[in-house]
Amino acid sequence: MKKELAFIFDLDGVIVDTAKYHYLAWRNLANVLGFDFTEEQNELLKGVSRVKSLEILLSIGKVNLSEAKKQEFLLQKNKEYLEYVNKMTSEEILPGVNDLLNFLELNDIKYALGSASKNAPLILEKVGLLNRFTAIVDGNDVSKAKPDPEVFLIGAKKLEMKPENCVVVEDAIAGIQAANAAKMISIGIGDTNVLHEADYVFKDLTAITPDFLKNIMN
Ligand code: BG6
Ligand code: MG
Repeated sequence: MKKELAFIFDLDGVIVDTAKYHYLAWRNLANVLGFDFTEEQNELLKGVSRVKSLEILLSIGKVNLSEAKKQEFLLQKNKEYLEYVNKMTSEEILPGVNDLLNFLELNDIKYALGSASKNAPLILEKVGLLNRFTAIVDGNDVSKAKPDPEVFLIGAKKLEMKPENCVVVEDAIAGIQAANAAKMISIGIGDTNVLHEADYVFKDLTAITPDFLKNIMN
C-alpha cells in the first residue's frame, strides 16, 4: 500500500441507523404542531444540524414560531430522541462497520469521526465504539454545518493528515458536498442516484472491501 490515507466517518446513517429515531421524534413534534411528516420528507433532514432541521420541519408544516417556542421544541425533540439513544446497544452498529474498522487498525490507517450531531459521543459510548476513534469532531466543535467542510477539515487536522489524503464516508448529500469542498475522497453510503456527487457509492460498509481499499491507496 503506497499512499498514506486516513478515514473520517459520519455517524448517523453510516455507523448506526439513528435516522429512524430522529424521524420518530421529529414526527411527534410535527403531530403536536398539527401536521404530518413522512419518511420521504425526513430525507431532507439527513446530515442537517438540529436547528436547521427544525426550520425545515416548520417550513413543511407552514408553521411560524417565536424564538422562545423554537428553543422549547428543540429541547423537547432532543429529550425524546435521547430516550431512544439511551436504549442503544452494540447490536445497532450497522453491517460492515466492525470489519472495516478492524481492517483499518490492522493496516495502521488512522480514522476519526466527523458528525453534525451534538449527541455523537453519547451514541458512540452506547454502542461501545467511543474509544476506537483517534479523534472525534461533532456538532459541538463546528460553527458551520455540512455542506461546509469545517467538520472534516478539523478532523484532518486532528489526524495530522492533509485533506487530499482523507477519505470521508457519508450517507447524506450535504456530507458528500462537505467532503468534496474539503478536497477529500468521498464515499457515499446509500443510493447512487441520490449521492451522485460522491467519488464512489456503496450500498453499505460491507461493500467497502480490502481490495477496493488497496486500489485507492495505490
Ligand atoms: C446528523 C443527522 O448526523 O446530526 C441529522 O444526520 C441530525 O439528522 C444532526 O439533525 C444533529 O444531530 P443532534 O443529535 O445534534 O440533534
Ligand atoms: Mg449521516
